[in-house]
Amino acid sequence: MDCDTGIDDALALAYLCSQPHVELVAVSSTPGNVAAEQVARNNLSLLELCGRPDVPVAIGARAPLRIPLTTTPETHGPQGVGYAELPEPHGKVHDVDAVELWVEAARSRPGELTALLTAPLTNFALALRAEPRLPELLRGVVIMGGSYYYQGNTTPTAEWNTHVDPHAAAEVFAAFSGLPEERLPVVCALETTERIELTPEHVAALASEAGCTEPELVLPEQPEGRRSMASNELVRHVSDMLRFYFEFHRRYGQGYVAHIHDYFAASVAAGTARYGTRTATVHVETAAPRLIGTTVADFRGLWGEPPNARIVSENHPGEAFAELVSSLGGLARR
Ligand code: BDR
Ligand code: CA
Repeated sequence: MDCDTGIDDALALAYLCSQPHVELVAVSSTPGNVAAEQVARNNLSLLELCGRPDVPVAIGARAPLRIPLTTTPETHGPQGVGYAELPEPHGKVHDVDAVELWVEAARSRPGELTALLTAPLTNFALALRAEPRLPELLRGVVIMGGSYYYQGNTTPTAEWNTHVDPHAAAEVFAAFSGLPEERLPVVCALETTERIELTPEHVAALASEAGCTEPELVLPEQPEGRRSMASNELVRHVSDMLRFYFEFHRRYGQGYVAHIHDYFAASVAAGTARYGTRTATVHVETAAPRLIGTTVADFRGLWGEPPNARIVSENHPGEAFAELVSSLGGLARR
């Protein structure tokens, strides 16, 4: 997994840890929601909380390929995990660079590993430069990035991950051009991840699944910033992250809900989500100032170029919530 943790990245990571059939090989940290060092710290701390201190956490790039880094403390909090105060991790960042780690892992286990990419595509683009056979060496690639059917969430037309590093996104899509359909990345479009709209009721269900009896302070009438009192440590941190995320979405007029994009991508990579895709040729805009990071999908072959992506067009939110609540509840009880 490559992530910019990030509240929804944190849920994605915890979800993967909850799945016994998933072998989590390594977590690489990309700058995006917060700086790379903070992403790595969050990843280390979360893996320890989820009982997986053995998973290597690496850092690669410190900034996008060609433009300065933009972070988003207003969306994910200054540390990237909302109001949660994650414990100081015991583990250290791996000495191998994330880009090298990707290449080594893919070469040593050809056809076995799935890349789950829930951040700007900087590290993965660098890995592709170092090993252009990566699309053939990997079993699959799942990306959270881009909006294809309607508006963006960062500019009127661009989604966050493609906006932060548009050049990396363009390189990644280009690398898959013309490959057989089963090799094309599965791209979780913003339009489908925004349907995974978590509410305080889901957090309450998670708390009860985890065996907590204390009130969960995630309801809208609670004063902004108040901390959860859940007895279970994982539930407490998840509540404190989500409370911030609910408040953020409310500030932007979306209601007291949270779009947990990256969790959906994780469930696609883990093979636990049902979804449908449409094959398309994706272009990422890197030049036109107002359109930087905008993704345009040609579903009809009008450009006459081979497809480079399978874009998710259909998913099942109800099933996604049930899966998250039971899996994270089970993980918290362990
Ligand atoms: C993406 O942007 C980030 O803020 C989230 O973590 C997610 O990966 C959604 O646009
Ligand atoms: Ca993310």
